[in-house]
Amino acid sequence: MFKNVCCIGAGFVGGPTMAVFADKCPNLNITVVDLNHERINLWNSENLDRLPIFEPGLKDLIKRTRGKNLFFSTEIIEPIKSADMIFISVNTPIKSSGIGAGEASDLRWVESSARTIAKFSQGHTIVIEKSTLPVRTAKVIKEILHSNQNTSENKNKLKSFSILSNPEFLAEGTALDDLENPDRVLIGGEDEESINQLKDLYLNWVPNEKIITSNLWSSELSKLTANAFLAQRISSINSITAVCEATGGDIREVSKAVGLDSRIGNKFLNSGPGFGGSCFKKDILNLVYLCKFFNLPEVANYWDQVVKINKWQKDRIYKKIVEKLFGNLSDKRIAILGFAFKANTNDTRESPAIEISKDLLNEGAKLVFYDPKVSKNQIIKDLSKTIEMITQKNKDEFLFFADNVYDAVKDVDAIVLITEWEEFKNLDWIKISNLMIPPSWVFDTRDVVDPSRISGSSVNLWKLGNADFN
Ligand code: UDX
Ligand code: ADP
Repeated sequence: MFKNVCCIGAGFVGGPTMAVFADKCPNLNITVVDLNHERINLWNSENLDRLPIFEPGLKDLIKRTRGKNLFFSTEIIEPIKSADMIFISVNTPIKSSGIGAGEASDLRWVESSARTIAKFSQGHTIVIEKSTLPVRTAKVIKEILHSNQNTSENKNKLKSFSILSNPEFLAEGTALDDLENPDRVLIGGEDEESINQLKDLYLNWVPNEKIITSNLWSSELSKLTANAFLAQRISSINSITAVCEATGGDIREVSKAVGLDSRIGNKFLNSGPGFGGSCFKKDILNLVYLCKFFNLPEVANYWDQVVKINKWQKDRIYKKIVEKLFGNLSDKRIAILGFAFKANTNDTRESPAIEISKDLLNEGAKLVFYDPKVSKNQIIKDLSKTIEMITQKNKDEFLFFADNVYDAVKDVDAIVLITEWEEFKNLDWIKISNLMIPPSWVFDTRDVVDPSRISGSSVNLWKLGNADFN
C-alpha cells in the first residue's frame, strides 16, 4: 500500500533518516518539512555540494531519491493533512532559563509540532518520536493530541492518533551506514497495529530479529541510557589520559589492552578532547534531571560526573597549552585544526573546539582556523559570545581563517589538533615546522600525529595521554 509520510524537522536526523527511508521504501511518499526556509532551500539546491549537512554518501542518496519519493518543503499544513505517519525530528536543546535550566530539554519545538499535528491532521495518524527526548515526552505529545480532538473545531472531524517512540541511534559521519545496517531498531508503543505498520517499513531492509519492541517509556529510556553509557566510556578513558601523563603510561597502549577484553570491547575507547555533538551532554543532563525529579540524588550525581570529567578534559588541555607557551598567550598566534565535534561532519554543536578556542581567546591569543567542512560563518557564530565579552574591538583582530593547513600554520606559535580529520594524519611536518615561529608547539588531542613523522622537525610535540610527549 502507498503511504504518505511527513517528517517535521530537516536537520541532521530528519534529513538523512528520511532519505534512507525513501531509498529503501519506494512505496512511500515522504515530505520533510521545516520552518527554516534557508535549510529547505539548501536541501532543494541543484548543486548537491550545497546540501545543509555534510555526511559521507548523502549526495548520491539525495540524487537518487529527491523529487521521486522524497520532497523538502516549508509548506507544513498539506503534508500533515495527508500523512499516515508523522515523524517528529525537531531540535530539543537544553533549556537556557526557567525551571530545569542547564539540565532539562527545551520541548517548545516538540510541543509546537504536536499542536500543528493536532490541528491539521486528518483521519488516523501514527505520530513517531524520532528526536532524542526526555523520558515521558510521549505523554506530553499524547495529551496535546488528544486534548485537541475535543475542541469545538475538531469535534466533528474523525481524528485519532497512535504515538510511537522510535529513537534514532545514528552517529554523524556514519549516519547512512548506521541507518542502512542498524545494530537494532527499537519501536516503543502501546498500539500493536501501529507498531507493526512501522515495523513493516523497516522490514524492507532490516532483518526481523534486529527489530525490537518495548513499551513507550522503556524505549525513551533506552535511548538516554545508550547515549549515557557511550559518553561514560569516553569520560572513563579520558580520565585515564591524565593518569598516563602523570605516571609514564601511553593511553593508546592502555586502551588497546583494555579493549581486547571481550567483555569490555574495543569500541569507543579513543581518548580525545572530550565528547561533543548534540546528544551526549544533553541526554546525560536529561537523565540527571530525571533522577533529581524522582529523588534519586545518588544516581543523578553518578551520571553528572561523566559530564564534569568531559568539561575538565577540555579545561586541562587549554591549561596545558598556556603552560607550554610560557604562561602567556597575548599576541601569540595559534592554529586550530578542526572545528567539527568529530571527523566527517560539518556539525559543531558542543564541539570541544568551541570551549578550547574561547579559553585561548580569553588569554589573548589570536586564532587561525581551518576545518575542511565547517564554514567561517559557523565558527564566528559559535564564538560570538566570547568575542563580545573579551573585546569590543573588531573580531578580525583575533580570528583568522585559512583554506588549508599550510596557510593556517604560517607564522603561528602553536597548532592545536582538535578534530581527527583524515587529512591531518599525513601532514608534511618538516614543511610545517619551517612555516611556524620557534619555539613552536603541536598539541595533538586526537592521536593523529605519528611522532616518527615529526621527529626530524624542530617542533615540540605534546600528545594527550602520552607521558613521552608531555
Ligand atoms: C551519538 C551516538 O553515537 C548515537 O548513537 C546517537 O544517536 C547520537 O549521539 P554522535 O554524537 O553523532 O552520535 O557521534 P559519536 O560517534 O557517538 O561521537 C560523539 C562524541 O564522542 C564525538 O565528539 C567523538 O569525537 C567522541 N568520541 C567518540 C571520542 O572522543 N572517543 C570515542 O572513542 C568515540
Ligand atoms: P537534529 O540533530 O535533532 O536533527 P537539528 O537542529 O539539526 O536537530 O534539526 C531540527 C530541525 O527542526 C531544524 O531545522 C528546525 O528548524 C526544525 N524545526 C523545529 N521546530 C519545528 C516546527 N515546529 N516545524 C517545523 N520544523 C521545525
